[in-house]
Amino acid sequence: MTLTVRPRRLRATRAIRELAAETRLHPRDLVLPMFVREGISQPNAIASMPGVMQHTIDSLRAAATEAAAAGIGGVMLFGIPAERDAQGSQADDPAGILNVATRAVVEEVGDALVVQTDLCLDEFTNHGHCGVLAPSTDGGPAEVDNDATLERYRAMALAQAEAGSQVLGLSGMMDGQVAAVRSTLDAAGHTDTALLAYSAKYASAFYGPFREAVDSQLTGDRRGYQMDPANRREGLLEAELDIAEGADVVMVKPAMSYLDVLADVAAASSVPVWAYQVSGEAAMIEAAAAQGWIDRRRAIEESVLSIKRAGADVVLSYFATEIAGWIR
Ligand code: PBG
Repeated sequence: MTLTVRPRRLRATRAIRELAAETRLHPRDLVLPMFVREGISQPNAIASMPGVMQHTIDSLRAAATEAAAAGIGGVMLFGIPAERDAQGSQADDPAGILNVATRAVVEEVGDALVVQTDLCLDEFTNHGHCGVLAPSTDGGPAEVDNDATLERYRAMALAQAEAGSQVLGLSGMMDGQVAAVRSTLDAAGHTDTALLAYSAKYASAFYGPFREAVDSQLTGDRRGYQMDPANRREGLLEAELDIAEGADVVMVKPAMSYLDVLADVAAASSVPVWAYQVSGEAAMIEAAAAQGWIDRRRAIEESVLSIKRAGADVVLSYFATEIAGWIR
């Protein structure tokens, strides 16, 4: 055969494959989501998330220290309060579990990690929705009240910034949430607190194990505020709006089923683009690997690499610390 172009030349040895690699995993590009639960004395396992814990404050400190030693870029904290109510009062209480845990982790790791917090009400409300509910007018299920929820997010943002969170993860999918939180933080002098907008966040079945992780009280679904998985263009609109409102980073979530959206946002964005490999994505890998049907480590590395290849600068992954350990 006379073949001038032979792509296999650059696949011949490990060394040349490394040189030809277009994308690489680096520990600093990984963020570890972590759960802390109020009122427990030992960490709890989460059945659908092997290896992931509901932490006590002490075990959270230890896991954050381990993550910092592995060299990852940051952590994203989620709180599970002992008491929940319709307004999610614990979310903006300085003594609420997420704010207490944030102080503890910041004290523990200093600036070895970027300490970030989830800014959403679903862990704090007794109905499990991401905002406060407006009474139903037509006898149907109650709807989340967008603008009343923004007032709660403003209060939550202040509490999180005061607790030392450096990046607030706006994951509630309320319209105008970035602008509302930015103006409140700025008016209070928190001009250096960064906003990570979960811009293209879809109403996804892949959040299933997360609901167990936070003991979610949700009945119904989030289709009234999270995006329809059918929509691609709308992901760009959400990202554009968030950038215009002052988002420092935009995110696509879930990751693996939305790589097209991620690529679109990455091509258009003027700010960094992150992606969240969510609980159900991790669970699928764990379950198949436990059956011996796929190679766990290769599947994890390939999945996160594909998310970076599609355009993510940073990946939130439950495997972050473990991957960092492999890379080193
Ligand atoms: C909202 C939030 C959720 C996740 C991250 N932030 C749950 C939801 O929107 O229903 C899911 C993350 C995961 O599945 O790993 N606080």
